[in-house]
Amino acid sequence: MQQVIDLETYPIDQPETADYADLVEDCRTTLQADGAFNLPGFLQETARAALVDTLTPLFRDAAFTHARSHNIYFKPAIEGLAPDHPALAQNTTINHTLCADQLTDTALGALYHWPPFARFLADIMGQDRLYPMSDPLAAVNAMAYHAGEALNWHFDRSEFTTTLLLQSPRGGGAFEYVKDLRSDDDPNYEGVARLLTGALKPSILPVSAGTINVFKGRNTAHRVSPVTGSTARMIAVFSYFYRPNVQFSEQERLGFYGRSS
Ligand SMILES: [Fe+2]
Repeated sequence: MQQVIDLETYPIDQPETADYADLVEDCRTTLQADGAFNLPGFLQETARAALVDTLTPLFRDAAFTHARSHNIYFKPAIEGLAPDHPALAQNTTINHTLCADQLTDTALGALYHWPPFARFLADIMGQDRLYPMSDPLAAVNAMAYHAGEALNWHFDRSEFTTTLLLQSPRGGGAFEYVKDLRSDDDPNYEGVARLLTGALKPSILPVSAGTINVFKGRNTAHRVSPVTGSTARMIAVFSYFYRPNVQFSEQERLGFYGRSS
C-alpha cells in the first residue's frame, strides 16, 4: 500500500503511534469546525497517474452515463412546498460512473478493502469500526465529469462522504458548499431558495488531485460546478457505514448505475 498512499506523511497503518493519534486529532478538529477536511497528496503521484491511465479507457468504453434532472432534495415533491417554490428548482447532474465491480483490480478497490483505511476513518468519526458496503456496485465508485457536466446541488444521505480526487479539470469543477444551510429541525426552505436563485453565494473548498476529502453533507448543501476544458474531472467515492451489510435497493442501483447487478 506504500506505493499507493503517502504513508510517511499519513501513517494510517501505525495506529499505535503518537503521529497517528495527532493526525486523527487534527482531522477530527477540522471536521468539527469546517464540516470537512483535506489530506493533500494522500495518493502517491505515480499511483495517481497510473489510475488515471487505467480508468480513462474504462470511462470511455464501459462507464454508465448518469444524467438526470433533479431538485436539491432528489424528491418529486416536498410536503408544505408549492411545486413552483424556488427551493424546488430543477438542475441537471451528468457524470460517467464506474462501479465497484469494475474497480476490483485497481488501487481504488484495494484501498477500499484495506482495513487500516476504514479504521483510520472510524477513529476520526469516533466509531468502534466502519463497515464497507456489501453492495456489489455501490461500495466504491469512480466518476468522470467532462466539459459542461456537473454534480448539481444536493444534500447527502450518508453521515459522511470520503472522496479521492484523481484528476482536476482545466476549469470549473469547483466544490461549492453552504455549511449547515439546514438542520435536522429546520429545513430552511427560504435559505435554500436564496442559494438556488443566486442571492446566497456558496463557499469554495479548494481540492488538488491526489487529495482525500472527508465531508459531512447531510445538512450542508453542495455541488460541483460545471467542468470546462478538455481534461475531465475524475474522482473516486468510498462509502462506509456505521452498520454492516448496507446495500442499495434494486431501484437505486438502476437509477445510479443503469443496472441492478
Ligand atoms: Fe454529495
